Amino acid sequence: MAKVVEPSIFIIFGGTGDLARRKLLPALARLHAAHQLHPKSHVVGVAIESEYDSAKYRRFTHDALLKAGVEEEVAAGFTTEQLHYHCIGDCGPADFDALSHMLRSIERANGLPENRAFYLALPPQVFLSTIDGLGAAGLNKSHGWTRVVVEKPFGHDLATAQALNRDIHRWYEESQVYRIDHYLGKDTVQNLLVLRFANTIFESVWNRDRIEAVQITVAEDLGVGTRAGYYDKAGAFRDMVQNHLTQLLTLVAMEIPSRYEAEAIRYEKIKVLRSMRALDPNAVVRGQYAAGEVGGEAVPGYLDEPGIDADSDTETFVGMTVFVDNWRWAGVPFFLRTGKRMGKTLSQIAVRLRSTPSHLFASLGEDDETADVLVISPSRTPGSRCTST
Ligand code: BG6
Repeated sequence: MAKVVEPSIFIIFGGTGDLARRKLLPALARLHAAHQLHPKSHVVGVAIESEYDSAKYRRFTHDALLKAGVEEEVAAGFTTEQLHYHCIGDCGPADFDALSHMLRSIERANGLPENRAFYLALPPQVFLSTIDGLGAAGLNKSHGWTRVVVEKPFGHDLATAQALNRDIHRWYEESQVYRIDHYLGKDTVQNLLVLRFANTIFESVWNRDRIEAVQITVAEDLGVGTRAGYYDKAGAFRDMVQNHLTQLLTLVAMEIPSRYEAEAIRYEKIKVLRSMRALDPNAVVRGQYAAGEVGGEAVPGYLDEPGIDADSDTETFVGMTVFVDNWRWAGVPFFLRTGKRMGKTLSQIAVRLRSTPSHLFASLGEDDETADVLVISPSRTPGSRCTST
């Protein structure tokens, strides 16, 4: 039986955007159908579109859910009177006060505790003003719990990431802040910890004596789509490498945490990051996709995508070699690569074991390759598929 959490209000800033349509609303609808949202919970989409009201937002959400492959029954069960819309207008103080008022009236009418999660599914340039708007309207605290969820990119570089952190901490305690990386929810990622730490068989080979190289690949068939405004400023490095691929790297390379708790896992991940050798610029390859075909249909090259400057230098592919200079991994290259329009969609971790010292069977055939590769990739059914080839 699934765990039922306390009733809450989940507030999506950017409620009509790409992330809300493709990921957040489908995820919430599925949680609702699986009884993992409290039946009294409400969801509020917040956006600047003034032509929407709650009824229109429910229709919008229903369409988005069907497009995302959610079953009709699940979509209908989610787009009820517990789904609302709030127009944030010019994002001025009065608009945030109006949001605060709306949340309180939902809570009073339904006898809800003031449990609120604010998810900022927004372009990075409006993170700061939104957090300030929430804080100034008193939406940083409540009689229940209040959380704020921040999407990537978390700043553009170290200085802007630190500035964003400082601003968040003006209003919110660290324990209220979630910096989200949706990759951590994927089956491959979840199962990686179980694979490594619930099986003694792997631990004995999980080191530089037995492993020759690790290759982490996140390839996508998709192009930049409708996200030119965001993507052309970010590029593959900021969009995928510093978050998703680095998370995968730390999960492969980390030591066993002392407990299965967020802090303990974070501590081990940080040790990996601190052991990483400074990047050698010559070990980084950047590329941009050209025009081609997907599923028999012609698709434009990156520079011809709508909203992309014809002379954009933004990378859509990154391939790089990194080293983790600690006892376990010294000398083992980690090859990281990711790109859009790669011809197929694939998330995969390939761990290449060292060859046997002698090639006993070479005389039986031409192929005397003896290195095994442990391939970890998502299967079609929930859970990871591990193959040794
Ligand atoms: C997002 C990136 O974080 O992850 C997108 O911004 C990318 O560019 C996406 O397409 C890939 O994740 P998923 O879950 O769609 O495989």
